[in-house]
Amino acid sequence: MKKHVHGGNIYSYRDCVDFSANCNPLGTPEGVKQAVVRSLDCVGNYPQVGYAPLREALGKYEDIDPDSVICGNGAAELIFSLCQAVRPKRALVPAPSFAEYEQALISAGCQVEHVFLREEEDFAVKENFIESLHKGLDIVFLCNPNNPTGYLYTQREMNQIRDLVKKYDLFLFSDEVYREFCYTGAPYISAFHLEGIEEQVVLIDSVSKRYSECGIRIGALITRHKELKKSVMKFCQARLSPPLLGQIVAEASIDAPESYMLSTYNEYVERRKHLIDGLNRIPGCYSPIPMGAFYTVARLPVDNADKFCEWCLSEFEYEGQTIFMAPASGFYTTPGLGKNEVRLAYVLEKEELSKALIVLQKALETYPGRTINE
Ligand SMILES: Cc1ncc(COP(=O)(O)O)c(C=O)c1O
Repeated sequence: MKKHVHGGNIYSYRDCVDFSANCNPLGTPEGVKQAVVRSLDCVGNYPQVGYAPLREALGKYEDIDPDSVICGNGAAELIFSLCQAVRPKRALVPAPSFAEYEQALISAGCQVEHVFLREEEDFAVKENFIESLHKGLDIVFLCNPNNPTGYLYTQREMNQIRDLVKKYDLFLFSDEVYREFCYTGAPYISAFHLEGIEEQVVLIDSVSKRYSECGIRIGALITRHKELKKSVMKFCQARLSPPLLGQIVAEASIDAPESYMLSTYNEYVERRKHLIDGLNRIPGCYSPIPMGAFYTVARLPVDNADKFCEWCLSEFEYEGQTIFMAPASGFYTTPGLGKNEVRLAYVLEKEELSKALIVLQKALETYPGRTINE
């Protein structure tokens, strides 16, 4: 089975409805395209040292001191730079979660401990999560809302985590790249605003998901910890700065009108309902209702979701179409887990989602390794 890779590889497949991707359904904001045209005259120049205009725009957006912001070539690069800078000996990573955390930690020689979030519990944080925090750790990773499950941490859970991070003097890494996409109606609880651990929090943000700009590769790491900031900067200096065009595009995006974010949000609310209702109507499928991001992890009535996803791409079609899904196993990193689960994104338009759900149902009815018979 070809592993699902960050960024996907949809370009290698034809005639498939892509459930695996993750882009803003409205495309990039209008002003961005004009900024790109204006920027063409600057391509001969090196970017401004310290990329001040972008850091200032991000600082204003996040309501924080721009001096706390480091920009990088996407959040992905900064996650690796952070791990190289901290070189933690032991880290706690929830599973399933974004696979790059573990890869970055391992590349820095770290021993990774896991706390498992279970489909039977709708991937919620339970007591075992809190009990997994101990003084032998150096850093705890959170993705909030979580990729791939869409789970959103509650105020109570964030407070419990804060208390233990403080007690054991740990770093708290919080990846908040999906925080604009929360569906509870309650205010978002950012780790950056937890009192008492201000210096210990490292925030990750990115324009990739918010403005449909995965290709421009601009992310941000935000920390008030001066020594940590200096060490991360040393790794970032290896590539001087993020690309100038990316900086210009990201800066212009931050000025996107509120109506852009609101329409995007409303679209996701509709698409989420459409997908989750549709999945739960297919015999043997189950999806919890995700409270954030634009993914869900669904249980399918199959022997092995890796094999099923590959079979869909190589052997199956219904009316000339098939579906491309991300097997959930890649988000657990522990072999054997998530065996009958897939991650589905609800970035497609509702009509496309309806078609994709029909193709999925037909695939499940035909797949030789299906585990129910009605
Ligand atoms: C949780 C999470 N963090 C970070 C990233 C990486 O974002 P970027 O495109 O800025 O590297 C992704 C991309 O899928 C993600 O899902």
